[in-house]
Amino acid sequence: MSRSMTATTRSVLSTRVALFGMMASVCVVGGSLAHFARASTHNVAPVLAVSTPRRVPVGPSNAEVAQPSEAARAALGKRIFFDKSLSEPYGTSCASCHEPARGFAGNHGSTIGVALGSRQGHFAARNTPSVMYLKYTRRFHLHWEEDAPLVDAYGGFFWDGRVDRLADVPKQPLMNPNEMNNRSSADLLEKLRQSDYSGELRREFGELDDAERALQSLGEALAAYLTSPELAPFSSKYDQFIQHRVELSALEARGLRLFKDSAKGGCSECHKLNDTLPSPERSLFTDYGFDAVGVPRNTKLPVNRDSAHFDLGLCQRPNPQFHSDSPQFCGAFRTPSLRNVALRESFMHNGAFSSLREVVAFYASRATNPRRWYGKQEFDDLPEQYRENVNVDKAPYNRHAGERPALDASEIDAVVAFLGTLNDTTLR
Ligand code: HEC
Ligand code: HEC
Repeated sequence: MSRSMTATTRSVLSTRVALFGMMASVCVVGGSLAHFARASTHNVAPVLAVSTPRRVPVGPSNAEVAQPSEAARAALGKRIFFDKSLSEPYGTSCASCHEPARGFAGNHGSTIGVALGSRQGHFAARNTPSVMYLKYTRRFHLHWEEDAPLVDAYGGFFWDGRVDRLADVPKQPLMNPNEMNNRSSADLLEKLRQSDYSGELRREFGELDDAERALQSLGEALAAYLTSPELAPFSSKYDQFIQHRVELSALEARGLRLFKDSAKGGCSECHKLNDTLPSPERSLFTDYGFDAVGVPRNTKLPVNRDSAHFDLGLCQRPNPQFHSDSPQFCGAFRTPSLRNVALRESFMHNGAFSSLREVVAFYASRATNPRRWYGKQEFDDLPEQYRENVNVDKAPYNRHAGERPALDASEIDAVVAFLGTLNDTTLR
């Protein structure tokens, strides 16, 4: 996923070498940059970013064998997840935006591409991602391939990877005025005290006397639910297919081939899969990497009436440990998993697309027919100085205006049909 080496990126490269050498020694492998660059398959941060219940080692192999206390905690988390009394005013739960029937994503009745919050006219800043399969999300880290011109970023929660611990995520929607709109953790504590699960909360986490601690407990319970087997069912047709229990239709099978073919879709370069192993967790349809796809501007977003407003993604990520604030990262967002993608209402970080076929058509002809997608200005959702960050090297983007698109209409249909095989059949 390395991007082209442009003038600006080349000029930041020398600094990045220094920074990365420092980071490698401080927080990754404890060695020099040279040592770091020699290892070929270093997954530098194979740490699962889930809350870690004591006694239970975290890892996919534990997916099915939930311990009793973990199961109790997950059951409590589930009640919290569906509790509409945790918003201000009453009426918006986590599930309002993360609806089970939509693969735990959704827009809460909004049609502009991003979700409505608990108050009319207040919208989330970005499109709602699915919260399924989160137990596989790694901590945010940087990684330098030996032959790549630039360092790549991976992992972390949210479109910009800004949170590492799943239990730390829920306070953001709970307190965000455009989402659940609680005024303070003290207000929230009061709601928890009055909830019909307050007894269970006390049993799991102790007295409900400190607001900050209560918020943390809420996060732990929600994280237990979100990492429970219910949220990683692997019940799709694709999962059955790799376990040799069903066949794909001719159209779906063609779509899979195009998805993998680096001369056609090239999709599996980032939306990773392994269809030769009967292990569904090897097919998460993301590598958790970040890329600047150059999604068109969503003109329906109220914030975009201001022509100077831009969501720059990764480079605006608060940056306590890693230098993710480098200009090379402006415009990059984390690659989403495509599991259950066909159940979504809107697509991409800014919700610019409302049909899956449109997304695949965009990939097919972004490079060959930019006019169709952008009108006058290519990559119009980025300020001029960052447009060079948009990936133009890899399939399906590596073509030129006027050439044949990477996928023709029937091939687009096939890819869309294949993506439909990624819907879990157990959701309702
Ligand atoms: C108003 C809609 C809305 C509500 C309500 C909401 N979320 Fe979200 N959720 C979002 C959006 C939008 C994002 C992406 C934000 C970003 O990337 O900046 C998100 C991201 C997440 C993520 C990160 C997923 C990933 O792949 O990185 C998790 C986890 C999550 N939400 C859990 C929750 C929980 C738990 C609640 C309830 C306490 C909740 N959300 C309530 C809209 C919502
Ligand atoms: C170089 C990496 C890369 C390649 C190749 C790639 N994608 Fe993506 N994909 C991404 C990233 C990054 C995003 C999020 C972009 C954003 O929102 O700004 C994304 C988003 C998507 C989405 C929207 C998902 C959602 O939850 O909104 C779909 C659908 C999708 N890709 C399908 C495909 C298909 C089909 C192909 C092949 C034709 C493909 N991708 C090739 C990186 C890639």
